[in-house]
Amino acid sequence: MIEILKAIPFFVNLPEDDLKAIIANVEMQYFPADHVIFKQGDPGDIMYIIKRGMVQVIRNDSVVATLSDNKFFGEMALVSDEPRSATVNTVTDMEVLTLNKKDFMRLLSTNPGIATLVSYEVIKRVNANS
Ligand code: CMP
Repeated sequence: MIEILKAIPFFVNLPEDDLKAIIANVEMQYFPADHVIFKQGDPGDIMYIIKRGMVQVIRNDSVVATLSDNKFFGEMALVSDEPRSATVNTVTDMEVLTLNKKDFMRLLSTNPGIATLVSYEVIKRVNANS
């Protein structure tokens, strides 16, 4: 698992000790093509990092983004305490890594590089949606 995490840019600058600490908390999940992972308006307490595959982000019935390998989604509900801002639907078979809210928030508070990356992406996404 540590080799899998090291190959994902999201975790690239994480010290070995931190990687080991989050391994206990990261889960690998698999979804088939054309599967709804969650719907806009759902409560959310998990974020996802795409190891392999492609999803569509659908907001108010329009596709606002297509995300593939190494991108992440589901972070906004965790940092904002708001419901899911969009539906996420798989386009292909997917392999994703998941982190629950508690572990994601801990990762943000202990790793400024990840916090910066996530906040940069959240700002872009919020702007695109407004
Ligand atoms: P969340 O609101 O938890 O659930 C829907 C997810 O879709 C959201 O987190 C982001 O990860 C993602 N998302 C929402 N809007 C956009 C956008 N404009 N571009 C890319 N991803 C988005």
